Amino acid sequence: MPDTLTITDNRTDKKYEIPIEHDTIRALDLRQIKVKDDDFGLMAYDPAFMNTASVKSRITYIDGDRGILRYRGYPIEQLAEHSTSFMEVAYLLLKGELPTHAQREEWRNTIRHHTFVHENVKKLMEGFRYDAHPMGMFISTIAALSTFYPEAKNIFDAGVRQRQINRLIAKVPTIAAFSYRHSKGMPYVYPDNALTYAGNFLNMMFQMGGAKYDPHPALEHALTVLFILHADHEQNCSANAMRGVGSSYVDPYSACAAAAAALWGPLHGGANEAVLRMLDEIDDKKNIPGFIKEVKDGKGRLMGFGHRVYKNYDPRAKVIKKLAYEVFEVTGKNPKLDIALELERIALEDEYFVKRKLYPNVDFYSGLIYQAMGFPMDFFPVLFAIPRTVGWLAQWEEHILDSEQKIARPRQIYLGHQERQWVPIDKRK
Ligand code: ACO
Repeated sequence: MPDTLTITDNRTDKKYEIPIEHDTIRALDLRQIKVKDDDFGLMAYDPAFMNTASVKSRITYIDGDRGILRYRGYPIEQLAEHSTSFMEVAYLLLKGELPTHAQREEWRNTIRHHTFVHENVKKLMEGFRYDAHPMGMFISTIAALSTFYPEAKNIFDAGVRQRQINRLIAKVPTIAAFSYRHSKGMPYVYPDNALTYAGNFLNMMFQMGGAKYDPHPALEHALTVLFILHADHEQNCSANAMRGVGSSYVDPYSACAAAAAALWGPLHGGANEAVLRMLDEIDDKKNIPGFIKEVKDGKGRLMGFGHRVYKNYDPRAKVIKKLAYEVFEVTGKNPKLDIALELERIALEDEYFVKRKLYPNVDFYSGLIYQAMGFPMDFFPVLFAIPRTVGWLAQWEEHILDSEQKIARPRQIYLGHQERQWVPIDKRK
């Protein structure tokens, strides 16, 4: 059986044979299909990349129909259950293999060396208004890091590249925590490098008055698992932003800021915040049927439901739902859990959602945990951005080292005016 596709152009009756590789045809192979010699040639129209592979990747695998997610081949459920350290998963995503003891220690120490930020970064953050959204502060500060490390623009120097990767992974928790402390008017807490990645972050968030802060082991564990689950998700909106912006060969701080901006939207990483606002609005289980009816009538969406790729239960949502109960053992149950459970039950039985294969996604339960742990709602996208920085960097490095990639530049179908003549202002209608 030849791995080719035969296309007959009914406009010309010409036949074309196009190679198939990895169940994919190359869009550029369509360009030979023309009516006249001077035609541009056929293009594929695919708004929102619904059926277009833009990269060959070896990092993360998703089978959306079967609800499978793997990092470098390892099922997400195994990583969430057995990896006790986020650094281990970060290493796996970036380097392709799980680290040995020695490699993990060396990697941890490297990251620890970079957790502090320049004092001027702190001053820059102090310049934001008292009520600045922490995600806006996060995005701007990540972009500003490029001015502190001008060497970062040398992206094809492997040593320079690795240093910026280390810096970004180490500094995002610090910047995130500073943005929270700023919004509370509380003094910033400097990193404590004796703690784990998640523990240090919790310490920078919640330490009060200089007293030693011991994160509850169950909460530190829960945050580590949440970080692992959020670390990468192949070619989602923000990874695509990271790759697209990075394809211009800009420094990784600027590309990362663009990726974080993409993450902030309510259809992407901002959905966890939107879920909690939705649960607030519903307020009581008795209001659920009315709310579902409004969604079905096209007045808003059931936030935390549906996914471009998953047409089955998001495997991350399964882990998070279980984790929620472990966290609530410590913090007490989030009262909105019952509304969420009932929403899920009703939606999964309702023909509208069943027919469209809409299942809970990663954001449906994560916000309930974050809230129970004491994080304010507008901070949820920042909590997503911290671990996702690892995924963005893995995707970015793969992209710029891929010899098949060029600057990202889609085509368009132009439907505007053909050439027309300029009209003086007093003659315009
Ligand atoms: N609530 C109600 N209806 C929905 C929902 C939802 N959450 N999601 C999709 N639909 C409906 C659409 O209205 C559409 O119906 P139609 O065929 O009658 O017009 C159909 O399902 C297909 O929806 P699309 O918007 O075409 O699906 P798409 O793949 O473009 O969107 C998305 C995916 C953006 C995630 C969408 O499901 C959504 O908006 N969900 C809510 C926001 C959310 O939870 N985002 C987080 C995603 S996970 C992440 O980014 C980390």
